[in-house]
Amino acid sequence: MSALKIALTKGRTEQQVIPLLEASGVDCTAIRHKERRLIFNDLPDIHFILVKGPDVLTYLNRGAVDIGIVGSDILSEQNNQQYDMLDLGVGKCQFVLASTPEFDPNQIKRKIIATKYPNITQRYFQKIGEDVEIIKIEGSVELAPLVGLADAIVDIVETGTTLRENNLQVYARLQKVSTQLVVNQLALKQHQTAIATLIQRLSTAKQ
Ligand code: PRP
Repeated sequence: MSALKIALTKGRTEQQVIPLLEASGVDCTAIRHKERRLIFNDLPDIHFILVKGPDVLTYLNRGAVDIGIVGSDILSEQNNQQYDMLDLGVGKCQFVLASTPEFDPNQIKRKIIATKYPNITQRYFQKIGEDVEIIKIEGSVELAPLVGLADAIVDIVETGTTLRENNLQVYARLQKVSTQLVVNQLALKQHQTAIATLIQRLSTAKQ
């Protein structure tokens, strides 16, 4: 039987998921000492690749990996409806609408909202029946209302430090976020036992 191939989101997710994988009996020594390495095929039964979050579903869709480990923020932004999931219970954070203390959420003028997540933002404002202009930003979104690029932002808050240090406040709380394990349906058939065992171990480890 070939090894299970897993795309793990590098960075914060990787750091939070490694202890969970180790508690499930997966040896992560090589990833812990990775330096610039991106592919880990030292173990006989599980291979890892480290990818950016928005790319996880691309690898999964194309069958390059069997499993993806990625935040629900990205799955929701990419309208994932295809894959079964296990909530790993880490990477917990929340989407918020935030801006400077001067921001008036009831302003008459059409608002400009900066975000890394245009689809989630669009869906939120559609739900509350408000038409806004959305500007897609790739990072450090908090800057946008500070320099007059946007009236407010929709972004993820984890500890709240970034908002606090930039003197921004929360005006609305949107959906919650956590790290998910997603499985390619074809892989589920091919590696049924191995995937069920991994999910079982991760479920026990996260408690
Ligand atoms: C995320 C998010 C916020 C920050 C929130 O950004 O977009 O900026 O983390 O975390 P906090 O509440 O713990 O301060 P990330 O670190 O991924 O960097 P980026 O803004 O460059 O995308």
